[in-house]
Amino acid sequence: MIKVKDKFFVPLLTKEVIQERVCQLANELMEDYEDKDPLLVGILNGSFIFLSDLFKCLHIDCEVTFIRVSSYLNTSSTGEVKQILGLKENLKDRHVIIVEDIVDSGLTLSQVKNQLLEKEPASLKIVTLLNKPEAMKVSLPLDYVGFEIKNEFVVGYGLDYDEKGRNLEGIYVVANP
Ligand code: IMP
Ligand code: MG
Repeated sequence: MIKVKDKFFVPLLTKEVIQERVCQLANELMEDYEDKDPLLVGILNGSFIFLSDLFKCLHIDCEVTFIRVSSYLNTSSTGEVKQILGLKENLKDRHVIIVEDIVDSGLTLSQVKNQLLEKEPASLKIVTLLNKPEAMKVSLPLDYVGFEIKNEFVVGYGLDYDEKGRNLEGIYVVANP
């Protein structure tokens, strides 16, 4: 049992299990993107450790960039409208892969996907390390998923609890949720 701020967490995925799965995902990407020179777009902050490990296992021509998603631009009938910050690259006719740490409601990623599609990439796919299928609120196909987990709060390997716990090597789930 570990403590992050005021909450206790127990181990869910060890660093070894994560590493093995990350390399499997990289192998799938290498098969699908050989000769396509994909651009990986990581969503900050959560995805930076996952993306870094994934990128090191990708032995094909590829590039990386990062974006940040603002909490919201304004509210509309569909809820929060999020804004993408920091994208300098031209996505037109590029093979783009969005890299996310975790999909919860899917609202963030579906907005990011729609906004990136407007930039006319040749293709646009999503890779996420974790998915909480029970929490999904939108219809959003996830192309590459590391692990499906229960609808419980997790930290570690880039994921935070109030900005703490990102530097844990494994992934931990909240105890007695
Ligand atoms: P969504 O828009 O509801 O899918 O939220 C996704 C974002 O919420 C992720 O990129 C994370 O930053 C954050 N998030 C969702 N679930 C967790 C969790 O269990 N631990 C830490 N962050 C989470
Ligand atoms: Mg995130």
